[in-house]
Amino acid sequence: MGKTFYVTTPIYYVNDVPHIGHAYTTIAADVLARYKRMMGYSVRFLTGTDEHGQKVEKAAQQAGESPLQLADRVVTRFQTLWEKLHISHDDFIRTSEKRHQEAVVTFLQKIQANDDIYIGEYEDWYCVPCESFWTENQLEDGKCPSCRRSVEKLKEESYFFRMSRYQEPLLQYYRDNPGFIQPESRYNEIVSFVKEGLRDLSISRTGFSWGIPMPENSKHVVYVWFDALPNYISAIDYFNESGTLRDFWPADVHIIGKDILRFHAVYWPAFLMAAKMPLPKQVFAHGWWTIEGQKMSKSLGNAVDPYSLADEYGVDALRYFVLREVPFGLDGDFSRQAIVSRINSDLANDLGNLVSRTISMLHKYFKGIVPQKGEDHDIDRRLSARSRAVFSEVDEHINNLAFTKALGIIWELISMLNKYIDETAPWVLARDDANKARLATVMVHCIEALKKIAVLSAPFMPLACEKMWDALGGAPNLARQKIADIEQWEEVQAGVQIKKIPALFPRIETAKKNEK
Ligand code: MSP
Repeated sequence: MGKTFYVTTPIYYVNDVPHIGHAYTTIAADVLARYKRMMGYSVRFLTGTDEHGQKVEKAAQQAGESPLQLADRVVTRFQTLWEKLHISHDDFIRTSEKRHQEAVVTFLQKIQANDDIYIGEYEDWYCVPCESFWTENQLEDGKCPSCRRSVEKLKEESYFFRMSRYQEPLLQYYRDNPGFIQPESRYNEIVSFVKEGLRDLSISRTGFSWGIPMPENSKHVVYVWFDALPNYISAIDYFNESGTLRDFWPADVHIIGKDILRFHAVYWPAFLMAAKMPLPKQVFAHGWWTIEGQKMSKSLGNAVDPYSLADEYGVDALRYFVLREVPFGLDGDFSRQAIVSRINSDLANDLGNLVSRTISMLHKYFKGIVPQKGEDHDIDRRLSARSRAVFSEVDEHINNLAFTKALGIIWELISMLNKYIDETAPWVLARDDANKARLATVMVHCIEALKKIAVLSAPFMPLACEKMWDALGGAPNLARQKIADIEQWEEVQAGVQIKKIPALFPRIETAKKNEK
């Protein structure tokens, strides 16, 4: 099967419609998946929906439908959004699917066989919207420390997972695998949390029924997090240890938001240890978006709909913006002004114009046909050397999920190429036939660098890059090209036809937008 790579997003709750936060995680995972495919890996990219639990049951009641009807309705919102955003997931898991439910039960039974589950009584403060129990100490002003809403005291019979047993093994794992939790600041946060001590975790609920029944005691349903986390293995065929599971587990990276890090970096690894399974290689927690300076919330009604943003600004522009604007791992603010200015400066101006002017010069001076290259000058050699070197730099940044830095490196090459054109001034060379060979060399270098830019940017902006690649005479289907082959190129082939294309990123007239 060769090199494999398994990347996941969280599975999204169906009691909310998709917003920019969901799109953010999924776009990031998509860029990584696309890049790894181009690096020759067999990639498995998983996303899906988290459909069980009291919240969904309540929301369905309010809407006068069954929980599954609600889930069926909302799940299509996610699926059509991913299609719109050109998300290239290989699988979409729903926790209401049979394959998932069966896997959770088997997973649970394995942990039971390890004597890590017992029945007891649970009493604590419970926050319904967050589906989380909190101790007295964790409450802030008597409210849920996560969403600040009121909590209720719950006492019920419950199954418990012996989490307390895993404090030391977890700390040991963090010590042995310092790269496990990213970014580093989050690593320290989790280590201190675990050092404070771990209580056994209640993993079943009784007050409602929308969930997976506990094996042998259907009065209880499995706690939503114990149900949700195993999606990462139920989707790769947990029952068949010689198939997808063997090829793709442990996952290379779980990409999540910072609010659900504890579940992924503490609970999930402890469950896996108890089930005697290897742990994921990395959990990466990204930051949160605010909207025009404000926290996004249902009550404020300020959630940003990624579908209409993609309609308004373009899919590629949206994908580019969210990963360029804020370093992955930090919080950021979404504003229309910021996206418009990124589009106009980076996309329309730096990249779009570069593509248009290169193609139009090629048509003007060589009838759109790539000429034979002459001898290189120093300035050409500098450009070639740089455009080769960027590959390993971008590779390092993408592997670290430092998308902003990767794009920064690509944009440095774009500026270098813009400067190269200004300095070599093809329009001056074109005035004298004696310079024809030099002009040809310059144009070939431009095409060559642009093709590399298209390749490197393709995981971020698949649509525009495919158009650009095709216009420059690239082989069909850019996403299927392997970077190793492209990196080796010395020069583009003479005789190839270059096509004229409409502007890749039209400028957005800010005056008009402001009037809206
Ligand atoms: N169902 C759980 C995850 C289970 S994974 C085994 C869940 N779902 S969620 O729909 O509430 O959130 C999914 C993701 O969206 C989280 O990673 C969360 O961080 C992210 N975001 C929600 N709001 C966000 C912002 N305002 N900004 C960025 N990401 C945000 O949690």
